[in-house]
Amino acid sequence: MTGEGEPPIDAALAAVSVADLERLAEQRMTPEAWDYVSGGAEDELTLADNVAAFRRRRFLPRVLVGGGATDTRTTLLGREVALPIGIAPVAAQALAHPDGELATARAAAGAAALFCLSTVSSRSLEEVAAAAPDGPRWFQLYVNEDARFTRRLVERAEAAGYGAIVLTVDLPVLGYREREKRRGWELDVPLGNFREPGGAAAAGDAARGDAERGGEVDLDRLLDTRHIGLTWQGLATLRDWTPLPIVLKGILHPEDARLAVEHGAAAVWVSNHGGRQLDRSPAALDALEAVVAAVGGRAEVYLDGGVRRGSDALMAIALGAQAVFTGRPFVHALGAGGQPAVEQVIAILRDELERAMALLGVATLADVRREHVLPGA
Ligand SMILES: Cc1cc2nc3c(=O)[nH]c(=O)nc-3n(C[C@H](O)[C@H](O)[C@H](O)COP(=O)(O)O)c2cc1C
Repeated sequence: MTGEGEPPIDAALAAVSVADLERLAEQRMTPEAWDYVSGGAEDELTLADNVAAFRRRRFLPRVLVGGGATDTRTTLLGREVALPIGIAPVAAQALAHPDGELATARAAAGAAALFCLSTVSSRSLEEVAAAAPDGPRWFQLYVNEDARFTRRLVERAEAAGYGAIVLTVDLPVLGYREREKRRGWELDVPLGNFREPGGAAAAGDAARGDAERGGEVDLDRLLDTRHIGLTWQGLATLRDWTPLPIVLKGILHPEDARLAVEHGAAAVWVSNHGGRQLDRSPAALDALEAVVAAVGGRAEVYLDGGVRRGSDALMAIALGAQAVFTGRPFVHALGAGGQPAVEQVIAILRDELERAMALLGVATLADVRREHVLPGA
């Protein structure tokens, strides 16, 4: 929730970096919302390392390659996007701004960037699709103990034009987020997808009681999937439910990447959930190259965690990612100034990426290679 009324957007539009918008968000979001979005698990070692890993790497630029325009377009599962930087699924975005996911989805669509909607979004997947009908969009799935409800979610996403199901696999149980514990705060806000489009309660057993009283769900219960025992075999069930491509989000181990491909995943999304799950997981960037090698070109590979500059995106692409996603920068922008600020953060990242490409001596993303990274760095 932002402060008094609509936040002024002047300072947000004067921001020249993701860090500027982050500082503004800290002033403008409630302390609870700020801590929820910004925090990580336990000692926040992985949270910090995600950013530090990008800072450790160095480029090895080429010169005298001509000065043509840079082209940041790429394709994600066959669909062209203007940028290799997508918006990661982040829960309950109404915490940052009343427009929530409608604002982020509209800003992404305006820039032809990919938007990934969380299962636990503030606005329903149908509302988000209607707000940005032409934007490329994927749906992130949390498997619920109520299999019928989970299946309905997948069918609804398919019907509403979402182009892929992103199954998050690094959350068998919620990570231990101390900032929230200290405040005695829990995420118990209305969640759009737990009502059917007609208004009837649609939540699974764990959530139904609360959902009938207004769409609020017990997230701890909802997301705790230890008793379901999600396994690789479960992927086959998901594939029976939908012809949509399946992306596995939350892969760090190269062996899991190999299994993902063997079980039919169209893409592997290297992520430690922004340092919010297992603290002491490796930085996403440090896990990337081994995953790329294990996948061996048989599926697309994405990365999120710690991307704060256009040059970070370029570094991940040089190390083998097809694209990156970023979470907090967009939600911080949303909290700092709503949709115009999200548009601003996309413009900043695009500008930084184009400049970094020109300075690195590459005209297209296909030209970016491992040789553009300093060995051993
Ligand atoms: C406040 C918050 C809520 C999140 N909610 C979800 C979610 O609902 N589903 C999911 O798969 N990932 C979720 N994530 C993880 C993001 O998709 C992404 O992996 C992470 O934010 C990337 O790190 P970054 O914030 O450093 O860019 C969330 C992250 C944050 C910060």
